[in-house]
Amino acid sequence: MNVLNLYFSSTGNTEKVAFRIRDAVNQLGHSVETVKVTSEDVDVDVLKFDLAFVGSGVYGQLLGQPMVELHRRLLSARAQNELLHEDPQRM
Ligand SMILES: Cc1cc2nc3c(=O)[nH]c(=O)nc-3n(C[C@H](O)[C@H](O)[C@H](O)COP(=O)(O)O)c2cc1C
Repeated sequence: MNVLNLYFSSTGNTEKVAFRIRDAVNQLGHSVETVKVTSEDVDVDVLKFDLAFVGSGVYGQLLGQPMVELHRRLLSARAQNELLHEDPQRM
């Protein structure tokens, strides 16, 4: 499987978890791309992956702002039909 391991971490806790996920997925023999969302313009081609782990600390009851923005952009692309997989079973 092709796995996306996406995280935002301000003080390092979520990063430790993301690295444990990366190591576990590797040990299981899958391919994993670990991406730290550090700014609001990080772009991720989510359609390349079969499975995604998404992690963030909570700050003022919200995910980290760059992660919020990334998801807003993904939702917007999906709403405009820009985020469709060729295989309709994977929509
Ligand atoms: C400025 C700030 C605000 C936080 N706000 C919340 C919160 O609203 N709710 C909560 O459960 N934890 C809150 N926390 C705790 C963090 O979510 C927690 O320490 C988390 O492990 C941080 O993840 P990170 O080390 O990957 O950045 C806050 C921490 C900080 C530094």
